[in-house]
Amino acid sequence: RAPVAGPGPGPVTLPTARAEGCPFDPPAGLARLRAGRPLARMRYPDGHLGWLATGYSVVRAIHADPRFSSRYELLHNPFEGGPTGPLPPAPVGDLTGLDAPEHTRYRRLLMAKFTVRRMRALTARFTEITDAHLDAMERRGPALDLVEAYAKPLPALMICELLGVPHAGQEDFQRHTATLMTRGSTREEVVAAMTALQDTLAALVTAKRAAPTDDLLGDLTTTDLTDDELAGIGSFLLAAGLDTTANMLALGTFALLSHPGQLAALRADPALAAPAVEELLRYLTIAHTGARTALEDVEVAGHLIRAGETVTLSLEAADRDPARFPDPDTLDLRRRATGHLAFGHGIHQCLGQQLARVELQVALPALVTRFPTLRLAVPPEDVPLREGMNINGVHRLPVTWDET
Ligand code: HEM
Repeated sequence: RAPVAGPGPGPVTLPTARAEGCPFDPPAGLARLRAGRPLARMRYPDGHLGWLATGYSVVRAIHADPRFSSRYELLHNPFEGGPTGPLPPAPVGDLTGLDAPEHTRYRRLLMAKFTVRRMRALTARFTEITDAHLDAMERRGPALDLVEAYAKPLPALMICELLGVPHAGQEDFQRHTATLMTRGSTREEVVAAMTALQDTLAALVTAKRAAPTDDLLGDLTTTDLTDDELAGIGSFLLAAGLDTTANMLALGTFALLSHPGQLAALRADPALAAPAVEELLRYLTIAHTGARTALEDVEVAGHLIRAGETVTLSLEAADRDPARFPDPDTLDLRRRATGHLAFGHGIHQCLGQQLARVELQVALPALVTRFPTLRLAVPPEDVPLREGMNINGVHRLPVTWDET
């Protein structure tokens, strides 16, 4: 057992500045900390004195430790300009803000519905949806914004299939989710879209109770979940599955276009799809930061974390830890990137990860093989990156190709 360290150097603040011209690398300050202080004292913007974990083994261990809580009302926000003080509790249906046993109940019910049969059926549907979008891009011709033409609509349609949103309702559903995902939306637009979505989900739950359908929401109406819980879970799945996969598709394409050798390898070898997706998930770790609060005094990596102290978990720094992944800053589609933390770890590990993998393994290779001359339509430094958001990505990805 390592000895408990003394006071050590003073508290740090969360590094957020990305190095100029490096759209894919985590803030450089994180790497410096990871090398010297993989678990460091951190001062939060609201004055809270907590911790920042950047080393792979520390970040993973805290995710797996039931003495740490995910309840939002115990967490402090590590980012400047965000809410201060403890956060409001999780809305109904939001799994990530719950601990066992409340979390266990939802998680078990949902896990039972993410069946192999359902995932297989979704894969077949996803291939059709992908091909239809590639056909539409071909018809439109170069140049276009890949976010709007491909990265956003594919996961949105998948969620509709998963939840069982009828065809007629899909356009509304997509329009509202697009408003939520657009940075330029006004507060009024966001509130209106959220209300409309909740109403849509509530109406959907009522309809499915009356006539159960063979989809995830239809299946869940046969459990003891209340209407409120069902509508809440539906909204949460929607939020969890949209922004994440859409940004992985767009940022993943940007990363491939910026590494032509890797892109050529993926194009040449369909068997590379699965390891390539794992490596892109690791390299980009778009859900970059998590948090937990100690429920009791816990000793971690030679430090004593006191009950009530929040630990910010830098997933993006952990996934670039040279102690876990050799030469971590190199994108190498052939490496074994398994064990990465892009989907988190422990009881909250991403419930939609198999679905996300299917989407990425189908959509990325299909795009680069359909358009062999695909390239950026603007200099890389002009691609607008999402800054200061929970999920990294790009707002737009202007691409072009040679017509045959
Ligand atoms: C949880 C990332 C796609 C549903 C998580 C967590 C991460 C994550 C890091 C853990 C959060 C925590 O520990 O607090 C991602 C990424 C995705 C993706 C990077 C795409 C590339 C999806 C999709 C769905 C989904 C497609 C649904 C269809 C969920 C749910 C949870 C979750 C329900 C909460 C699980 C729990 O708390 O037990 N995701 N996700 N995710 N994700 Fe995903």
